[in-house]
Amino acid sequence: MKIALITGVTGQDGSYLAELLLEKDYQVHGIIRRSSSYNLDRLDEIHIEGVKKNENFHLHYGDMTDSMNVIRLISETQPDEIYNLAAQSHVKVSFDMPEYTADVDGVGTLRILEAVRILKLSEKTRIYQASTSELYGKVQEVPQSETTPFYPRSPYGVAKMYGFWITKNYRESYNMFAVNGILFNHESERRGEEFVTRKITLAAARIAYGKQEKLYLGNLDAKRDWGYAKDYVECMWLMLQHDTPEDFVIATGEMHTVREFVEKTFLEVGINIKWEGEGVNEIGIDLKTGKTIIKVEEKYFRPAEVEQLMGDPSKAEDLLKWDSKKTSFDELIKKMVAFDIKKKNLEVYES
Ligand code: NAP
Ligand code: GDD
Repeated sequence: MKIALITGVTGQDGSYLAELLLEKDYQVHGIIRRSSSYNLDRLDEIHIEGVKKNENFHLHYGDMTDSMNVIRLISETQPDEIYNLAAQSHVKVSFDMPEYTADVDGVGTLRILEAVRILKLSEKTRIYQASTSELYGKVQEVPQSETTPFYPRSPYGVAKMYGFWITKNYRESYNMFAVNGILFNHESERRGEEFVTRKITLAAARIAYGKQEKLYLGNLDAKRDWGYAKDYVECMWLMLQHDTPEDFVIATGEMHTVREFVEKTFLEVGINIKWEGEGVNEIGIDLKTGKTIIKVEEKYFRPAEVEQLMGDPSKAEDLLKWDSKKTSFDELIKKMVAFDIKKKNLEVYES
């Protein structure tokens, strides 16, 4: 039985990956942070607090900023595969917490690599580093591939840039099987509510059911390459099963604006949006009722923006036989909206 250790197991990707590895008969260890409120909701399928639901799934308290804890957990679990998914993953928040973001997302990666080296597990343990399309930032070519130069635009991007290079450096210096998955944006029913897609699908469901009046957004013209998280975690696993340690771009190869995501999402709940005005004065009107339901708000703009991202997944398609077209943009929206409409307790949101 293979043993996997997942950092960030409570997150969107961590929860899907844990499910996938359990299906593949792995023994899965996940690192969770101590929190004063319950933070294991995304693990509901495989874990119920106080109940032994899956005997191959184990949770351990830890934190990426605590080197001794990282070393102890790797020593105790002796993993064949480590998936380093833990991160302060919000780009806008990284401008407010740049030092913490560097510590968790940058130095945190080093802590994992160095622990494996210190524990003399370099030959046994394969490491996946959750790298990101944010490295491309102010894009130097379109689409972006494994050879496109980086130009990060946020403390998050810069911290992840350290994570990328230190992973590559340990691979080259110590012959470790350590790889970067350069993943473009991927979303799901489990996406954090402060990321733009989930913020939009939840708001559309709430507005359609009279629980919210308006949705406030930032840059409507930002373009992203949005895929489905469940398809992307499969690729993380494929990268660690590959013969040689290599970095891969994972993307759909399609780009859409935030505006388009809004329009399609609201159409899913039967609302046609008409746009009026420009910049921070732009509004989205419900064509049927004439009500303003979308407003632009300055606070959601970033000090430096990544205007567009679109990946070229051909290397992963060729070498890993990964299907970048498994879930289309329209299907992704449908899945997220259907889930949010079904959510029984759509909280009442004041506008
Ligand atoms: P997410 O939902 O925000 O999950 C982040 C996870 O990291 C959570 O489990 C969180 O724990 C944990 N974490 C945060 N700070 C930590 C710390 N100091 N110590 C230990 N754990 C900590 O992120 P995601 O969307 O699943 O993304 C997974 C990884 O892929 C991240 O590294 C992200 O930067 C990267 N990535 C994501 C995307 C994307 O589009 N989703 C694209 C490219 C790369 P709590 O639950 O306790 O907060
Ligand atoms: N969050 C948010 N909230 N973003 C908004 C809003 C809003 O109200 N309005 C417009 N946007 C724009 C942002 O300015 C950005 O251009 C785009 O929507 C996407 O924002 P997010 O959903 O927050 O994602 P991200 O692209 O910044 O970062 C995500 O993808 C990266 C991979 O490219 C995160 O998951 C990162 O962790 C990941 O590395």
